Amino acid sequence: MDKRVLLIIGGGIAAYKSLFLIRLLAKRGIATRVILTRGGSEFVTPLSAGSLSGERVFSDLWDLTAESEMGHIELSRSADLVVVAPATADLMAKAAHGIANDLASTTLLATDKRVLFVPAMNVRMWEAPATQRNVQTLKNEGQYILGPDAGEMACGEFGFGRMSEPEAIADAIENLLLGNQSLDAPQPLKGRHALITAGPTREPIDPVRYLSNHSSGKQGYAIVSALRALGADVTLVSGPTALPAPVGVKIVNVETARDMLTACESTLPADIFIGVAAVADWHVKGAGHKKIKKDKHGLPELILAENPDILAIISESKNRPALIIGFAAETDNVIAHAKAKLTKKNCDMIVANDVSGDVMGGDENAMIIVSKSGEQAWPRMTKHKAAKKLALTIATYFEDKA
Ligand code: C5P
Repeated sequence: MDKRVLLIIGGGIAAYKSLFLIRLLAKRGIATRVILTRGGSEFVTPLSAGSLSGERVFSDLWDLTAESEMGHIELSRSADLVVVAPATADLMAKAAHGIANDLASTTLLATDKRVLFVPAMNVRMWEAPATQRNVQTLKNEGQYILGPDAGEMACGEFGFGRMSEPEAIADAIENLLLGNQSLDAPQPLKGRHALITAGPTREPIDPVRYLSNHSSGKQGYAIVSALRALGADVTLVSGPTALPAPVGVKIVNVETARDMLTACESTLPADIFIGVAAVADWHVKGAGHKKIKKDKHGLPELILAENPDILAIISESKNRPALIIGFAAETDNVIAHAKAKLTKKNCDMIVANDVSGDVMGGDENAMIIVSKSGEQAWPRMTKHKAAKKLALTIATYFEDKA
């Protein structure tokens, strides 16, 4: 798991929902570390929170003072996002006023991360001017407030005060971890399934050696996150990379081009296919299970055979996605080669880039978008920025077609 949430469970009947939340986050590849307030521990036990998160639960500020322990500053900073659920009126009041008299409030004051408060309380407490002032203060400071929902409450009253459901909290967390700036960022690709290949492929020579290339997977992974942030359901078919798994997407790890094709075909149908992977053009014929020995009979001869062209096969399949985007990594005549590829591989768009510099493995890219309607050269920018721009271009493509 690569993204981490620090979850502060406050004292409220809704605390049990936070246990579901830990499990939901784990399923989405997000790790959780828990701080349980004294009030929180009246409703759920450290044992249940610890068993579900798979980590030690922290409760007391003074637990952390021993040399060997993690200090509270590190605890507040070692996560990507801090979530307070249930956020009681008391916890929000302390956070709004900078009161730090226990582990949870000290952590909230010390953190350098964004904080998502998920309030849960009696409707009158929620509507009380003091609570509303505190909520406004937290919002003005750029913190996030999710809910509360309206409905019947444990105390028998009816109104706003119910904690949001775990699914909604997990969606909001994922949204923030993906870099969105608001909890209700527009999701123009919601309901669309995107299939992306990324990274290199690895073609075995024998059980210990292989042919591959310099693709890092950075551009493909950035596109995956950018599409997810716009609401798409994403399946990533990835060759071997050193990158952390993107949040909230299905990942199928493969090695060879032939495996990549099988994984892609079994993932269809999809609305969008983007072939970002640097698929090896050849594999070694008859690569066996025995290591080739360095012996006296001269050099081994490797016979190469052509790999399937995944992009071409997907675009000819009867399940053809509505939008197919190929990548063209070229070192010369970039646009001419991209145009030829657009027709040859029956794509809707080709993203051409000049890889004669440090694009492969680097953090920046200058893309040229080639489609039947012409070409558009984007300036050099980070692969993350380029991915966001491409995701928005895809959203516009579907809007224009609608
Ligand atoms: O023909 P070329 O390898 O330059 O085409 C690049 C595009 O085709 C990329 O989108 C790449 O992911 C895809 N491709 C593929 N299967 C191959 C070779 C390339 O999907 N065997």
